[in-house]
Amino acid sequence: MALEFSERIRRIPYYPAAGGYAQAEPLVLLASNESPYPPLPEVRAAIEHALGSLNRYPDPHNSALRRALSDRYGVAESRIAIGNGSCDILLAAGEALLEPGAEVVYAWPSFSVYPHLSAASGARAVTVPLDADERHDLEAMLREVTVATRLVVVCNPNNPTSTAVPLADIAGFLKELPGNVCAILDEAYCEFNLTEDPDASLELLGRHPNLVLLRTFSKVHGLCGLRAGFALCGSDDLPRVLDQVRQPFFCNALAQAAAVEALAHEDEVIARVTRTVAERESVNQQLRALGLQVADSQTNFSWLHLGEGREEQQVMDGLRARGVLVRAGTPLGCGGALRATYGTPEENARFLDALAELL
Ligand SMILES: Cc1ncc(COP(=O)(O)O)c(C=O)c1O
Repeated sequence: MALEFSERIRRIPYYPAAGGYAQAEPLVLLASNESPYPPLPEVRAAIEHALGSLNRYPDPHNSALRRALSDRYGVAESRIAIGNGSCDILLAAGEALLEPGAEVVYAWPSFSVYPHLSAASGARAVTVPLDADERHDLEAMLREVTVATRLVVVCNPNNPTSTAVPLADIAGFLKELPGNVCAILDEAYCEFNLTEDPDASLELLGRHPNLVLLRTFSKVHGLCGLRAGFALCGSDDLPRVLDQVRQPFFCNALAQAAAVEALAHEDEVIARVTRTVAERESVNQQLRALGLQVADSQTNFSWLHLGEGREEQQVMDGLRARGVLVRAGTPLGCGGALRATYGTPEENARFLDALAELL
């Protein structure tokens, strides 16, 4: 007899894993918006130091990391939530806030994990199309807020389209949003956004107890293999509830140690952003020279439209045959589009050469 799974399980989509993990040949991995740079030597040393205590459970309160984040961002420790990656915090927020009859509003296309929020809880997902420039349409999102809305998610800059909306527009949006609706501002890529100071959104926390700034060590800090994320919250309520809905010890000891150390090397973060932005300008220029329509990226990846008569699957297969992995738009409902992360200059050259050959 077959196992009988819950209704919830039938609704939850699989996360579209990029693949390329167990390959013999060296692939150019540009499908998951990872950093091409390995962890800093000091971060590696902190991880090695923490190895000796792995016979003990990790600090369940994430005290050192919470303190370091509080010092860095000027947010009280009680308003900081830590997670096994920022996805962990996002999904825990969904569990804490959503249930059948409730609604969650987010833009689409956006981060592929957001549909999980409604599927897992039985809440209704209200998706709002991006505007003509593939940016969040905040006014249209506001119009979808009802008495049933418990959560809105704004991804800025947005994954997969790489575009950003001005913080002033988000401030206006928050002003209009009822205070009982939790607003998660997913800022996984904010350090790559040159149109805004990445710390500028912190000021909004003082005015909006319902606001959550979701950040991660996965992207600019290059620690996605360890899983560490955090949320800076406008009040103490959410961090407490997030800890309640998750298993204890959700952030492992190596991730905690690495994240604390990573925060001490802001200068290196800025240097990495500078390198990535230089690649961004060069890659986008070359993509446009190939006749492709490329979004105005404020992230560590390009979002490009192949244009009439070009088959997305054919291009994906062709790139794969040349050892290059990027993300296809079709699973997000965006046929004919590709998302390509910036790698090292050599990796980007391989991607561009392969694409030019295929087009
Ligand atoms: C918009 C966005 N939010 C959150 C995440 C999750 O990051 P983490 O590795 O911290 O779970 C990603 C990862 O790709 C992302 O693109």
